[in-house]
Amino acid sequence: MNLSKAFLFILSKVLIIFFKSRTIKHILNLSVDEKKEFLLKILNENQRFIDLEKEEYSDNNSLKFIQNYNQLPCTIETRKKRADLLEINGFRDKEVLLMGDDDLVSVELALRNFKHVTVLDCDKNLLSKLKILTSEAKFPINFFHIDLYHGIPNYLNKLFDVICFDPPQNSKDLDVFLHSTFQAIKYGNSSFYMMLNSSAIGEKELSTIIKLINNNGFFQHNKIEYFNCYPLNKGQSILLTFVSFFFKSIKKNKIYIKCRYYFTDCYEFKSHITNSVNQDNFDVKLPESNNSNKYIKDVSLPFFTISRS
Ligand SMILES: C[S@@+](CC[C@H](N)C(=O)[O-])C[C@H]1O[C@@H](n2cnc3c(N)ncnc32)[C@H](O)[C@@H]1O
Repeated sequence: MNLSKAFLFILSKVLIIFFKSRTIKHILNLSVDEKKEFLLKILNENQRFIDLEKEEYSDNNSLKFIQNYNQLPCTIETRKKRADLLEINGFRDKEVLLMGDDDLVSVELALRNFKHVTVLDCDKNLLSKLKILTSEAKFPINFFHIDLYHGIPNYLNKLFDVICFDPPQNSKDLDVFLHSTFQAIKYGNSSFYMMLNSSAIGEKELSTIIKLINNNGFFQHNKIEYFNCYPLNKGQSILLTFVSFFFKSIKKNKIYIKCRYYFTDCYEFKSHITNSVNQDNFDVKLPESNNSNKYIKDVSLPFFTISRS
């Protein structure tokens, strides 16, 4: 291990103590080589994005590395691309669940007259904003205030043909979002879209996740690299640019690249089966904490629901 690698290793171990965010802890815990790969990919994509003159600056001057509820809204272009994906794949008349929606995809789906859209989120303020932004929708959207750490309420079990989510990028949250997906999704003819930066999550972790998904009756149908783009705030941009200076190869070639964007891939999973089958056929195990009485009692009631006509 050379000197800068050793320094970065020690720095990461010290920083882990100070950061509360599971996402930052996860990235700091990656090996030095994994961190390097993660940064290289992000910086190369930043360069490509800027070369294509696609810049969409964030006017957010905040220095916070992680926003409330791990929120990091995507660009307008990304939001439209997600709606395109759902439209092209024929989900306009289907039951769609957006599990977390700081990206405002529901606003785009409302504009396109999607018929059955449900949004759940743990952020009440965001839900109020979405309610206002979609108030003119031809087909009203259902909103639920739910913290997935308390589990998905029974009334949402096995309802959805398609689920779309962009989870906090760390193992614990991913596990919670995935188990909620397996609870809420229909078993037959269903799909889900998961936004994930595979190099931020690490190879080993990714293969565990894919195995869990396969064991629950879904297979990977598609992966679209760098599908999602997120403008960083000032603090996040400085942090990523700063950390990249520890890697010689990045420093030599990419010294002038300022990291303004974060990217994730879009994974599409489809159910193995085309008809409804008994859920006992699959290995659906809730995280242990979800089985406790405490969580069952605490399940959030709907914050507000705009019922369909
Ligand atoms: C997790 S954030 C986006 C993460 C970001 N794209 C990233 O790469 O780290 C997506 C949405 O999920 C919501 N969210 C986060 N944790 C949640 C939870 N435990 N239950 C319900 N919604 C949650 C947030 O409020 C937000 O609107």
